[in-house]
Amino acid sequence: MQERPTALVTAAAGAGIGAAIATRLASDGFDVIVTDVHERRCQELAAKLSADFGREFTHHALDVTDEAQVEAVVGEIAATKGRLDVLVNNAGWSKIEPVAEMSSDTWRRCLDVDLNGTFYTMRHALPLMQKNKSGVIVNISSIAAYETSTEHGAAYSAAKAGVLALTRVAAAENGRHGVRVNAITPGLIYNDFLRKIYPDDFFSGYAESRSLVGRVGRPEDVAGLVSFLVGPDSGYVTGEVYGISGGVHPHG
Ligand SMILES: NC(=O)c1ccc[n+]([C@@H]2O[C@H](COP(=O)([O-])OP(=O)(O)OC[C@H]3O[C@@H](n4cnc5c(N)ncnc54)[C@H](O)[C@@H]3O)[C@@H](O)[C@H]2O)c1
Repeated sequence: MQERPTALVTAAAGAGIGAAIATRLASDGFDVIVTDVHERRCQELAAKLSADFGREFTHHALDVTDEAQVEAVVGEIAATKGRLDVLVNNAGWSKIEPVAEMSSDTWRRCLDVDLNGTFYTMRHALPLMQKNKSGVIVNISSIAAYETSTEHGAAYSAAKAGVLALTRVAAAENGRHGVRVNAITPGLIYNDFLRKIYPDDFFSGYAESRSLVGRVGRPEDVAGLVSFLVGPDSGYVTGEVYGISGGVHPHG
């Protein structure tokens, strides 16, 4: 029997996009390695996928800001599977503070999770992908990378813009090694955590009324785009940035 392709997803055990991506890739037939800084939730998601899909899914507690942990997880994948077909960098962190009042800790933490973490996983995954002359990386950025509507989130915007630059250069360096690298910039994507932060009528009122399709984004919408970008129909797509915002934040 042919081995299933392997996909590593970071921050996969939260309330939103990461878990939807892990679930969608499992449904697409991938052997998904579930990782997240939160160990218990990570274990729970791997157990749920195993029950839902009737095969074993592995998990690792992984803080993407800790390069030694990243190296260990990718090293274990190399040792046990010999290949990594897909890497999805989903980890993100943000704290709302105006630039004039932003603490250095906020700035550094945000750059660390959103940009440095993405760099660490790519640095360690790319040699394995290059060796196999095959691989796809999808980096989850944000419309904050190019919009002014995200005031008080300068660290997040800067980090997510950095992710786009990192994506493009890595794509240029790796296309001829058989590796594609793309980024996605979601607009507002509903999840249970955000629902606690925003007022009750935010999603059903303001956010829905701005969306050109009359509803807010769902984690599964982003997961569907990831599925396309890692699948066989996107072989000519690399170095690209895909927006997904219900038409609220078009760019191009
Ligand atoms: N939800 C949105 O509206 C939206 C919009 C644009 C972009 N994004 C981006 O999409 C991604 C997913 O966001 P989401 O809102 O769906 O949340 P999510 O639930 O998918 O992600 C949150 C998860 O990140 C994990 N995490 C935090 N720090 C980590 C670290 N250092 N290492 C590993 N894991 C860590 C948390 O444990 C949590 O499980 C993020 O990169 C975010 O910036 C989200």
